[in-house]
Amino acid sequence: MKNKQLVIRKFSNEIHEAAVIIENSIPKLSSKEVLVKNMYIGINALYDRELYRGNVPYIQMKFPYVFGVESVGEVIAIGKQVKHLKKGDAVSTVKVGTAYQQYQVIPESEGISIPEATPEYLTLNPTGVSAYLALKKVAELKPKETIVVSAAAGGLGHIVVQLAKQKECHVIAICGTEQKVALLKTLNCCDRIINHRDEDVATILDTEYASKIDVGFDSVGRHIFDTFLKNLAPLGRLVISGIATEINEGKFQEIKAPRVYESIYWKGASVRCFMNHLFKEEHSEARNILYKQYENKELQIKVDTTIFTGIEAIMDASEYLLQGRSCGKVVVAL
Ligand SMILES: NC(=O)c1ccc[n+]([C@@H]2O[C@H](COP(=O)([O-])OP(=O)(O)OC[C@H]3O[C@@H](n4cnc5c(N)ncnc54)[C@H](OP(=O)(O)O)[C@@H]3O)[C@@H](O)[C@H]2O)c1
Repeated sequence: MKNKQLVIRKFSNEIHEAAVIIENSIPKLSSKEVLVKNMYIGINALYDRELYRGNVPYIQMKFPYVFGVESVGEVIAIGKQVKHLKKGDAVSTVKVGTAYQQYQVIPESEGISIPEATPEYLTLNPTGVSAYLALKKVAELKPKETIVVSAAAGGLGHIVVQLAKQKECHVIAICGTEQKVALLKTLNCCDRIINHRDEDVATILDTEYASKIDVGFDSVGRHIFDTFLKNLAPLGRLVISGIATEINEGKFQEIKAPRVYESIYWKGASVRCFMNHLFKEEHSEARNILYKQYENKELQIKVDTTIFTGIEAIMDASEYLLQGRSCGKVVVAL
């Protein structure tokens, strides 16, 4: 049996130059390992872009490097000393440098049992986990606060807005297309939806929310970051969960402006960053809470309806996300 993999073969600005599909044989299972057939994989195109450009400081990459982070699939073989998983079980896996392939051999401990290998369970872990932990541990969101979320209809954003409403917060959601506005409306959790292509976000926040934003949750950067920062409330928190504009442009915009403390000192406000892998100890608890909420229909999971199939489609799915077209989580079916 051969294993088709998308690997980074060299650093480059463009995925088509950096990555290539190869075929490898599947390594033999050791006694505590299981073989998983990946069924759906999650696309994290902005993170991937930094990876194939060689910009992720904590990854020491050796070529060829299988990339991709999350998958859900089926256990198809088990080692002799495997105790908890069996053939036919559905599992979720999350590890940088593993997902973009048809099969993977993993230690049993890295296969998280799930009821079914669906795109929804794929979205809950780790995207949902990121939303949950960023709000809890970094934003420290409190009941009835005012929160503004950028890229609110994306994989991460659509979960952030729902979790914020569970705390009875006033939720302002920013997104970039009518399709995304429609998705946000179906969630029934946004008090104000701003389509940034039709309305000027800065003007709205300056006039309606001046010094009223308790939490700015930003995945976009640049002028969105600036306007969130400007309108923070006393003790407000600006959480940087992504910097899409900087990554897509390929370099950090240089600006002439006072240092960040000019905006936050007198308000006792703060600017904070979220980084999922730094909260490993919290992952399992967050995952279990989210699985339960999803199963109890307290949380809606939206998967982008564009169909991408096969390892060959990963690059197309990445381009799609980088063009800002994603509505919900982008997944590839294998
Ligand atoms: N720090 C962490 O640990 C962590 C974990 C998970 C995700 N993230 C970050 O969270 C963000 C959301 O991730 P996701 O995978 O769920 O993606 P996504 O939100 O589904 O897609 C990205 C969205 O960002 C917006 N955007 C604005 N400017 C963009 C640009 N120049 N290029 C591309 N997109 C742009 C677009 O939404 P609009 O059209 O609505 O503006 C786009 O649809 C990403 O920045 C990702 O890196 C970080």
